[in-house]
Amino acid sequence: MVSYKELGFVNTRKMFEVAMKEGFAVPAYNFNNMEQLQAIVSACLESQSPVILQVSKGAREYADQTLLQYMGKGAVEMMRRMAKEKGLGEIPIALHLDHGDSYELCVSCIESGFSSVMIDGSHLSYEENVALTKKVVEYAHKYDVTVEGELGVLAGVEDEVSAEHHVYTDPDQVEDFVKKTGVDSLAIAIGTSHGAYKFKPGQKPEIRLDILKEIERRIPGFPIVLHGSSSVPQDAVETINKYGGQLKDSIGIPEEQLRAAARSAVCKINIDSDGRLVMTAKIREIFATKPAEFDPRKYLGPARDALKKMYMEKNEKVLGSAGKAPLIMAELNK
Ligand code: G3H
Ligand code: 13P
Ligand code: ZN
Repeated sequence: MVSYKELGFVNTRKMFEVAMKEGFAVPAYNFNNMEQLQAIVSACLESQSPVILQVSKGAREYADQTLLQYMGKGAVEMMRRMAKEKGLGEIPIALHLDHGDSYELCVSCIESGFSSVMIDGSHLSYEENVALTKKVVEYAHKYDVTVEGELGVLAGVEDEVSAEHHVYTDPDQVEDFVKKTGVDSLAIAIGTSHGAYKFKPGQKPEIRLDILKEIERRIPGFPIVLHGSSSVPQDAVETINKYGGQLKDSIGIPEEQLRAAARSAVCKINIDSDGRLVMTAKIREIFATKPAEFDPRKYLGPARDALKKMYMEKNEKVLGSAGKAPLIMAELNK
């Protein structure tokens, strides 16, 4: 068993307390490889934002669970060294399992140094979701690991869970779910979805802030999580298509709606697809404009720079998390 504390991570409790009080959301950015991890950590350090490094089941398999543990430890140590070099304060970093689909996977992640896990029982019956989530919470809390549960089903693909239609979170269930399971945060379905195709052409890209408001009223002060929150930057989509890609009618969540959600009880916003798009756009551009280039550093490096810029902009303009790291560090050091 490796405790996340030995690796230098923190759980999400204080992050969410401060986010709730200050009206911002902590960014949860997914990573699968070194360049994504470098971009996320350096962007969040430079914008002095807290960050949740998010790993899906697929990412864990892709990167290898042992290597991942050391990458995580390396990310914290790199952040500390960079902070000293740049004269910046250290930032709080959580390592989080995204869309955990079983008790065993959550246990395995906790044993290998994750400070937070999501158990996604949203595709189960309400009773089964409560029972599974409660079981994970009982185990995780023994090690001071925080747990995210989910109620409602997002359209699109939730890892291996696919849902053709949204099943919006029912506000009537949230209080009971939170009470029975003991979860630390709750992911809800209010019209966001995973991937690059969130709305059909002609459809108004709108999330149900009214349902969010009602949920907030039922569980005041409780941290809410939004999945599927990429905005699908159209300049990246255009670049991809200009250089041979075939993305058609990709539409994301308007940034101002996410900003409004971040000001409310939404304390964690998940973004993965936007990073994939920005990275792909840059790599395609380099392959097309510099066809003689074959050193991976020459296309992965610029892709990493573009990613870093995107994360800094998200922290500043969408999450509102830029400059908030010192407030959380002060709470953690109390
Ligand atoms: O919610 C899904 C995340 O974007 C992770 O996706 O399962 O392809 O790693 P993935
Ligand atoms: P996007 O596909 O909108 O980036 O959502 C990511 C996500 O919810 C990860 O859990
Ligand atoms: Zn998700």
